[in-house]
Amino acid sequence: MPDIPDHLFRLKGGFKAFLSPPPEGVVRLTVGEPGFNTPKNISEAATKALLGGDTHYTRGEGREELCTAWASHLRSRWKIPVEDEGIVITPGAKQALLYAFMVAAQDDDEVILLAPCWPTHAEQVELVGAKPVFVHCEAPSFHPNLEQIRDAITDKTSAILVNSPNNPTGAVYTAEEMIGIVELAIEHDLWIISDEIYTELIWNDTEYIAPASVLGGFERTLTITGPSKTHAMTGWRIGVFAAPTHVAKTVGRLQGNTCSHIPSFLMPAAELAARDWSSVEKFRHEYVRRRELMLELLEDIPSLSASEPEGAFYVMVDIRGTGMDATTFAKRAMDEALVQVIPLDSLPGGEGYIRLSYAADDDVIREGIQRLQAWLD
Ligand SMILES: Cc1ncc(COP(=O)(O)O)c(C=O)c1O
Repeated sequence: MPDIPDHLFRLKGGFKAFLSPPPEGVVRLTVGEPGFNTPKNISEAATKALLGGDTHYTRGEGREELCTAWASHLRSRWKIPVEDEGIVITPGAKQALLYAFMVAAQDDDEVILLAPCWPTHAEQVELVGAKPVFVHCEAPSFHPNLEQIRDAITDKTSAILVNSPNNPTGAVYTAEEMIGIVELAIEHDLWIISDEIYTELIWNDTEYIAPASVLGGFERTLTITGPSKTHAMTGWRIGVFAAPTHVAKTVGRLQGNTCSHIPSFLMPAAELAARDWSSVEKFRHEYVRRRELMLELLEDIPSLSASEPEGAFYVMVDIRGTGMDATTFAKRAMDEALVQVIPLDSLPGGEGYIRLSYAADDDVIREGIQRLQAWLD
């Protein structure tokens, strides 16, 4: 039988092994998506376009009005000086990230990832033939240490990835940290890939500073965002790549030669998402409550120690007090407590931790944590 190339054969499934729908009766504290429905006006924009025959080939980067809507959102909300032509609308933020790695790294380059990080970041670095270099962010805050990043930079380093708020740690990097990272990138002429999928979900008073908004940052930053998490649109597969126009033009050609564009009839909905953030306030309000609930319930379990997440909807829980490693904990929690959690010990910097998601409804959170408590007792 013909062989599969090594780099594809080695590709891992990220958290997938722990995200598969469990048997009935298992409580899932794993899922990285809002439990809400997409706002009705956004769904209606898509169905209207579909029924109206908006089903033909169109501009690869996304229609002009769609790109304009996202560019103007990024300019006004995060002070990113992107031109309308600097936007490419992609099938999910994940695809936009892949394009970013294809731009920022090639064979034998090194890409700095702040660990523990979302597994897809590391897999995509390897997919483009480069090598992930993990710089550990120490518990309990999981904030980056600029000196350690500096020490990790070599002649081969081509990019640094920042993801704030972070999946899985929930850390929100301070203005000082963000500016420090941009300054390092300028000093060493590196790309910054900024995964900003959770920037609307910040729970402390940190003001989010986009690297592309920092003086000298824009020309070297590839910004990734989209409506998946903010508008409960994970299944729509819509993402946003934002960069200096000459970079976006290259990525536009890349997309044109691969998937062409996102489905035409989703474009009016994606445009509306960029203009209408009203539902996000409601979602935010819910998450603040659910976060409190989860942290409060976890406090009653002495062998678990939760880090307070500053953003996104994940809690890092130190399970070393149970005497188990994270994979054993996750397997036994599934079999014995009927609770699905994600063990992080396969991630550099994640040893001894599990990730819980509070995107779930209140009763799911309550039931899940109470089951863990009864089991550990
Ligand atoms: C850090 C991070 N970036 C990107 C994504 C992907 O977003 P999308 O669903 O739009 O591809 C996720 C999804 O979980 C994520 O956690």
